[in-house]
Amino acid sequence: MILVVDFGSQTAHLITRRLKDLGIESELVDPDDALKVCSKVKPSGLIFSGGPASVYEKNAPMVDKKIFNLGIPILGICYGWQLIAYLLGGEVNAGNKEYGPTTLRISDFHNLFYGLPSETSVIESHGDTVEKMPDGFEKLAETESVFLAAVVNKEKKFYGVQFHPEAHHSDHGSEMLANFATIVCNLGLHPQSPNVDEMISEIKEKVGNKKVIGAFSGGTDSAVAGVLVARAIGKNFIPFFVDSGLMREETIARIKNEFPKTLGVKVEIIPARDLFLIRLKGVTDPEEKRKKIGALYIELFEKEMKKHKDIKYLLQGTTYADFIHSQGSKRSAHIKSHHNVGGLPKNMKLKLLEPLRYFYTDQVREIGLKLKLPKDVVFQQPFPGPGHAVRIVGEVTGKRLARQVAADMIVVSELRKSGWYKKVFQCWSVMSGTNSTAVKGDGRFYGEVVAVRIVNSKDRMTAEIARVPFPVLEKIASRIVNEVPNVSRVVYDITSKPPATMEWE
Ligand code: XMP
Repeated sequence: MILVVDFGSQTAHLITRRLKDLGIESELVDPDDALKVCSKVKPSGLIFSGGPASVYEKNAPMVDKKIFNLGIPILGICYGWQLIAYLLGGEVNAGNKEYGPTTLRISDFHNLFYGLPSETSVIESHGDTVEKMPDGFEKLAETESVFLAAVVNKEKKFYGVQFHPEAHHSDHGSEMLANFATIVCNLGLHPQSPNVDEMISEIKEKVGNKKVIGAFSGGTDSAVAGVLVARAIGKNFIPFFVDSGLMREETIARIKNEFPKTLGVKVEIIPARDLFLIRLKGVTDPEEKRKKIGALYIELFEKEMKKHKDIKYLLQGTTYADFIHSQGSKRSAHIKSHHNVGGLPKNMKLKLLEPLRYFYTDQVREIGLKLKLPKDVVFQQPFPGPGHAVRIVGEVTGKRLARQVAADMIVVSELRKSGWYKKVFQCWSVMSGTNSTAVKGDGRFYGEVVAVRIVNSKDRMTAEIARVPFPVLEKIASRIVNEVPNVSRVVYDITSKPPATMEWE
């Protein structure tokens, strides 16, 4: 757990609330009791809250200096940081008052700021500031008027920030607290059962009367995020969907017909099927294909943006797993350029709204159910952002896309009929790009080989093939060769991941 030493800040309790949202146990403690409680509960980390006093005041709250020798990581916030500096031999001065939002410029992304942008808006509210760091500390970030806005003693794992990461409007504040808890204090995040009403009122409070734009991908995450925002701000939410023709038809139908009812707002459909096919003409390299699709999504997104005024936020259905995955590792090899809706336009002025950022897939589903979304939306299989295009090896033509759509639908419907759909993580067909010989109606026929891939996985990092009974596979094969034009043969992909990735491209 993390113990929060309460020096009287208005937002001390909010620190524990933020930690609890992340699934971290935390408790407030009075400064006079802090040392005693530490030896009793042995916290993994300490946070010193802000407070209204100045360290030089006669009755300013203090902590026993022995607390610095316990080997526990400490994050000092505002007064908490000033107190650390004062007690460890730094210098605190009056002046340079700052109240309200200001831009934090990060120069060292060490732990606390891991994965954050180099500039982010934070809330400051202080009279005093630290003018001279104690020995062993180094600077991590500054603001316009505070040179030592964030500091660290790397050896002792003591951090100090002059601003308030726990405040709602410190844009990446929760991530800083999450980084402190996970990277510095070695705690795991176990967010608790989500409270949907609280989530909706938080969005309401954060967004106010501003407008939010959001793209639906057809997947569970963007649907759940969209419904939360629609419930919070109604018509000020502007949802749209790019109809690339690369998604499953049932997804597209759902977005067109069901979503407006669930959301209570109209979903703007951007028709782009022909455009995607034109851009994919002649493209056979899988990476180039992904990049072309991503670029076109961005292009269409930017065009859509220009149609609306006064938009302040962009809604994203990012989950905690996406966040962690997208960080990658410094030394990891580049396997594929994954993307959902094509990444974000460069120089985007909009602020991100990510209500699911600290939730995992199972919790997102729980939220979806609480919001009364249809079960087939909540429990649908993941579908890659570039859709069928990465399941058609080689060039995506109109004809091959139509065949892929038909073959894929056969896989899905046969698994549904046999009761296997719910037991597997993902299932789909692949237009393999290879031809083989067949005999159709007494004549030689030379056509494309279709592969069927059905896998089980928990976290997508590894996968095993699903042991679907042969009669089900045989039915799939028979229907595909008979119903889909130009198919000569159907094979079942029996390769695990690793070494093979789940998608063929
Ligand atoms: P791979 O092929 O990398 O797939 O083993 C792992 C999981 O990710 C999905 N996938 C994607 N999802 N954008 C996405 O949003 C993509 O570009 C993408 N490529 C693969 C894949 O369906 C599987 O669930």
